[in-house]
Amino acid sequence: EYEARLAEFEARIARGEKIEPTDWMPEEYRRQLIRMISQHAHSEIVGMLPEGKWIPHAPTLRRKLILIAKVQDEGGHGQLLYRAAETLGISREEMIEAFLAGKAKYSVVFNYPTPTWADVAAIGLLIDGAAVVNQLMLAQGSYGPYARAMKRICYEESFHIKQGYDAFVALATGTPAQRRMMQEAVNRWWYPALMLFGPPDRDSVHTPTLLRWRIKTKTNDQLRQEFVDQYAPMVLRLGLTIPDPNLRYDPETGHWRFSEPDWEEFWRVIKGDGPCNAERMAARRRAHEEGRWVREALAAKAAQRTNGGSN
Ligand code: 3HC
Repeated sequence: EYEARLAEFEARIARGEKIEPTDWMPEEYRRQLIRMISQHAHSEIVGMLPEGKWIPHAPTLRRKLILIAKVQDEGGHGQLLYRAAETLGISREEMIEAFLAGKAKYSVVFNYPTPTWADVAAIGLLIDGAAVVNQLMLAQGSYGPYARAMKRICYEESFHIKQGYDAFVALATGTPAQRRMMQEAVNRWWYPALMLFGPPDRDSVHTPTLLRWRIKTKTNDQLRQEFVDQYAPMVLRLGLTIPDPNLRYDPETGHWRFSEPDWEEFWRVIKGDGPCNAERMAARRRAHEEGRWVREALAAKAAQRTNGGSN
């Protein structure tokens, strides 16, 4: 019976069909999706912190308004993704408790500091650029609610990249001090952008399952290569350098050759030993505590309505 159901499920995946919440699915498929989507959601919420810090200090009102809109978008992406994960039978409370307890992960890239305004431009161009390369792939995935959430999120991320590029060009073509600031931010954010795609395929424990059931349709290394091919020339064209002495275009393959990130650092930061891990977790725990009264008020209101109480 199980074998027959699994065979039918895999035939559906092979036909490119979308699996919907009420369809039969292997428990491992459900588990992998809950793991991946909830951690993606946590990443969006934590991702609001590094650049959100710059909202009060944006150099112009226009940049401030754009940054407010972008950070709000990221919060909305988090809600969209928690909702997509809930369709698999896990509650938002469970996901958030797992995150606050340090049991669930979020993208390693958000454990790095944003010391200057140029870091906001570098995040907008390089981190959101990398996220779109990853998310355009995820939008082809087999689980309906996740793929549809990705389509919606990618529209908004393309605005994020455009605003990042606009701020990036303003600095890269500005005064020598602005160019220096932009170059230093590129030096800080280039390798974290490569880390966003996950470990090398040779070390990725989940990729075989994710590919088998088309939760992912490309590997981490394929996506990382796509990102470098798109963004290395863009940065170099602006007259800035990339902190990788091995970076060079290979006319044979039509791809850019590049150095991999420091995987020791990658795993160390994932395990909690990055520059901002403690700060990010403290900020999220504080926000959760400060929001407790709202949750309790809503729950009391809902209980009152259920008991037919007056408004
Ligand atoms: N950051 C943090 N943890 C990571 C990681 C990363 N970049 N890459 C891998 N890990 C963790 C995995 O979560 C896993 O731990 P777990 O079993 O406890 O969940 C462990 O390392 C081993 O995982 P794998 O080696 O099998 O990693 P994957 O092949 O699954 O790749 C991934 C990791 C690229 C994050 C992949 O899971 C993925 O594509 N996830 C969905 C997309 C996503 O989460 N993107 C976050 C980017 S932030 C963002 O988009 C916001 C935007 O506004 C910038």
